[in-house]
Amino acid sequence: MHKGNPCIQYRIMEEKDLDQVCEIEQETFSQPWKREDFLQMIQQDHSLYIVAVQNETEIVIGGCGVRNILGEGEITNVVIRKEYRNQGFAYMMLQELILQGEAIGITDYTLEVRESNLAAINLYKKLDFHIEGIRKNFYEKPMENGIIMWKRKK
Ligand SMILES: CC(C)(COP(=O)(O)OP(=O)(O)OC[C@H]1O[C@@H](n2cnc3c(N)ncnc32)[C@H](O)[C@@H]1OP(=O)(O)O)[C@@H](O)C(=O)NCCC(=O)NCCS
Repeated sequence: MHKGNPCIQYRIMEEKDLDQVCEIEQETFSQPWKREDFLQMIQQDHSLYIVAVQNETEIVIGGCGVRNILGEGEITNVVIRKEYRNQGFAYMMLQELILQGEAIGITDYTLEVRESNLAAINLYKKLDFHIEGIRKNFYEKPMENGIIMWKRKK
């Protein structure tokens, strides 16, 4: 499979995707979001959640969200299913999130990431995010520092 595979579409999450999105969330994170949290991302005007979906099978292979707080976008829950990683899908999915975020007035983006999560840190750097701070022991299960990154409009 090559990068930017045309068989994958990136679109706004719908209610029909929720079961798969929750399944991926539970497989991936030690403190997973609940179904209601994702439902809110669909229902609230200031939130966006993008899913990466296989065209023919409708298998959801990943997702990512953003909350618009006065033009600043807080990115949440970036994930790609294990078996689909390292094929450029997270990069493409986040580019779509940022594009759609701009359409609802987001200019700058921020996120927190575990200090040890080099895959994610590299991904965000590739999207022009920069490290601007550190939150001591921000994460639990296991406890770890959080790195704060920003992508600011130039
Ligand atoms: C982080 C994650 C979303 C990356 O998804 P992905 O689809 O594999 O990433 P991509 O293939 O789009 O990679 C884009 C860039 O990210 C970086 N990257 C991705 N995986 C990496 C790895 N294992 N090691 C180092 N860098 C990596 C690279 O810079 C890569 O660019 P390159 O291919 O030109 O080197 C995925 O590993 C994941 O779901 N992890 C578990 C959940 C998670 O940690 N989410 C982030 C929470 S803040």
